Amino acid sequence: LPVPAFDGVVFGATGDLTMRKLLPSLYLRYRDRQFGDESRIIAAARSEMTEDQYRARAEEALRSFVGAGELEQDTVTRFLARLTYLRVDAVGEAGWSDLASLLAERPDVVRSFYLATSPELYGSICTRLRDCGAISPQSRVVLEKPIGHDLDSARAINDAVGEVFEERQIYRIDHYLGKETVQNLLALRFANPIFERLWNADIIDHVQITVAETVGVEGRGGYYDKSGALRDMLQNHMLQLLCLLAMEPPVTLDADAVRDEKLKVLRALQTIRPHEVATHTVRGQYAAGVAGGKPVEGYLTDLNTGERSTTETFVALKAQVNSWRWAGVPFYLRTGKRLPRKVSEIVVQFRKPPFSLFPDEVTGSEPNRLLIRLQPEEGMRLEIMTKEPGPGGLHLRPTPLDINFAETFGRGFPDAYERLLMDVVRGNATLFMRRDEVEAAWSWVSPLLDAWAEKPEMPKPYAAGSWGPTAAIALIERDGRTWYE
Ligand code: BG6
Repeated sequence: LPVPAFDGVVFGATGDLTMRKLLPSLYLRYRDRQFGDESRIIAAARSEMTEDQYRARAEEALRSFVGAGELEQDTVTRFLARLTYLRVDAVGEAGWSDLASLLAERPDVVRSFYLATSPELYGSICTRLRDCGAISPQSRVVLEKPIGHDLDSARAINDAVGEVFEERQIYRIDHYLGKETVQNLLALRFANPIFERLWNADIIDHVQITVAETVGVEGRGGYYDKSGALRDMLQNHMLQLLCLLAMEPPVTLDADAVRDEKLKVLRALQTIRPHEVATHTVRGQYAAGVAGGKPVEGYLTDLNTGERSTTETFVALKAQVNSWRWAGVPFYLRTGKRLPRKVSEIVVQFRKPPFSLFPDEVTGSEPNRLLIRLQPEEGMRLEIMTKEPGPGGLHLRPTPLDINFAETFGRGFPDAYERLLMDVVRGNATLFMRRDEVEAAWSWVSPLLDAWAEKPEMPKPYAAGSWGPTAAIALIERDGRTWYE
């Protein structure tokens, strides 16, 4: 469905996120006519550049990051004509009055301000937007992660933005929530009573969430080395997945109803106490190894600063949700760079039968598992025990009931940003994070950050191309369980 006409202002318009994700996603929504020539995209950045120069860079980005089959020259040309470039200095005077006059031409259309800059600038950009008179009642602001690097800095950012915008106008993006399969978690749980009836500690043994990447730190060392896997992936994306898996059914799909339930999960997460940090968490850092069949360097060489770094590129931990539904069900989370495969997957492992009719040596004694594949090859697989055909006796083995979404629906999925950017224009905040959620997530990871900071040991090394340090295997095997591979 088409969205209302909008003026979309992107700060940080020459940056990596804009080029890699925002412009390609906007192009694809334009191509599919979700918005048309009545909308404008205003690219704002610090560099001195003409509009033609900016459009040429944008075209290059489309050629690099949109699949060749999706590019239609005529549509590309019309899309580029929607782009205006403005030189705006986030911390200085330049450009603000030009921006205000441009926006004043269309006082009634939806305005979105997308802050794809360093989070230290969020407060200052919002204040300047207000002072130059650029904010209309129809305005919203989109904040990219990371929202701070700990609880205090997150609060400071939220306070600064909150001085200018009301909470209902603030869209904190977590692109994992825009992924189709993540939204499918809501459908799986709340449109299929057969699962929801089983979704509790009586039936579920434990849950695993793996977000593995094959890439290393790439050119992002400056940001990543100050962040690390816990802040970069776990505090946001992975806790959001955990919330969607663990939350109670919301009353409606309205933004606040869903976010209220997610918040309760975050608040029910059991604090990992200092004496548990060593047994409940594992930090790793990749060393030289092999990726995609080629030898690759370790993290410190990739960073190329000539210095030692205690930043983790892998983290595994055991979380517990203290609620009636989940008491005693561990959630094992792991994420890392330079792992063997790019895969994001949730494994819900059910309990074994309370009593087995089939002797174990015959059954193989595999529990039922539900696998939810977020990427790649989005889909779901339920492993059930079936009898192997043949006259020889009752030999059982796990057999998959498998849905591959792309095959089932006969088409690929839009990028998460396509959905989320249009949700901003539509004014639907269900897939965005509310202030209290972000702060609750920081509160939960804070004791870990503090414990690590107190004893700044080197994370455990793991060879690039392996599944992380052996301690991560020990973390789950100590409980008599194994990571699903
Ligand atoms: C980003 C992180 O939020 O998510 C990156 O900053 C990471 O380090 C990326 O590579 C992973 O996203 P996706 O969609 O490729 O799984």
